[in-house]
Amino acid sequence: MRTDLELAQVSQLAFGYWHAQVLFAATELGIFDALADQRLTAARLAERCSAPAPQLRRLLDACVGLRLLTRDADGYANAPHARRLLVADSPDSLVRWVRVMHRWYGPWGELPAAVRTGSVAEDRAARLGDDPGYLEDFILGMHEYNSRSAGSLPAALRREDAAVLLDVGGGAGTHSMAFCRAWPGLTCELIDLPGVTDIARRVIAEEGLSDRITVREGDYYQDRFGQDADVVLLSNVLHQESWDRSVDILRRAAKALRPGGRVLVNGHVLDEARTSPVFTTLHNLSALVLWDGGESRTAEELKQIMAEAGLSDIAVHPTGEPSARLLVGRA
Ligand SMILES: C[S@@+](CC[C@H](N)C(=O)[O-])C[C@H]1O[C@@H](n2cnc3c(N)ncnc32)[C@H](O)[C@@H]1O
Repeated sequence: MRTDLELAQVSQLAFGYWHAQVLFAATELGIFDALADQRLTAARLAERCSAPAPQLRRLLDACVGLRLLTRDADGYANAPHARRLLVADSPDSLVRWVRVMHRWYGPWGELPAAVRTGSVAEDRAARLGDDPGYLEDFILGMHEYNSRSAGSLPAALRREDAAVLLDVGGGAGTHSMAFCRAWPGLTCELIDLPGVTDIARRVIAEEGLSDRITVREGDYYQDRFGQDADVVLLSNVLHQESWDRSVDILRRAAKALRPGGRVLVNGHVLDEARTSPVFTTLHNLSALVLWDGGESRTAEELKQIMAEAGLSDIAVHPTGEPSARLLVGRA
């Protein structure tokens, strides 16, 4: 029988959200945590997850089909990668990030309306403080996800004589901590919104870097960012903002630098044709439903924004995140 690849591709796309929902439901019901270090029967899992066994068994078997769990005569267990990535107390856990993706399922369902009207499907205030549980998952989920590649930023650069780095919209401190670990003696100032700064202080203290990273509340639409920094970093920030707002933020970032200092812009970047990497084309749609005025951009567009803000000698570096680039401009 001839394989109908076109049908397979369209089916895979149409059924794609079924796969995601299995992951989201199993995470929300606590299945991976219940199985952290043990094999359990469906009946025992039903007790642990407060769900009737017949329905739960359907979900468990779908998890086996999707290779998240294994099953034998004694019950169900986590597959090795589920133990590593989907159990909350694992050092490699992505559970918070998965929960954020689950939350974004709703806004993504509004994609046709967002394309028609250009209006976002969720108010950014929910993610940025109005809902403390969401804020915590958003900030710590990003930390879980971005920690894996953060070390590639300092590795892509020469330190020169950098002693002070300003991390604007620094979130949990993921990149400040990566720079401190790579560049001994560096000190950082992280600026973010109230609520986020409490989380950042906690994470940075847990990592033993409170003596090198100062955390300050500030609004990057208005903050003057200080002066005499050697490096200002904007990581995964500009896709949230319009062109004009990005220029304005970068202009103030440039003013915070000593002469010859560097502004670093890190984020997912579109190729010039704007059709790849696929992840960034989807990231661009995520910005459409979530960040009013925000969008993903090409390296050339980011260079232009940086040039409009008064930066020069702009260079583009690859990073540990395949779809991301690090742009470096000088004051
Ligand atoms: C996508 S996260 C990136 C976090 C971090 N830089 C990273 O790369 O992992 C964007 C950050 O911008 C912060 N942010 C959003 N609006 C802000 C504002 N008006 N002033 C300061 N920070 C803001 C958010 O709280 C969040 O920490």
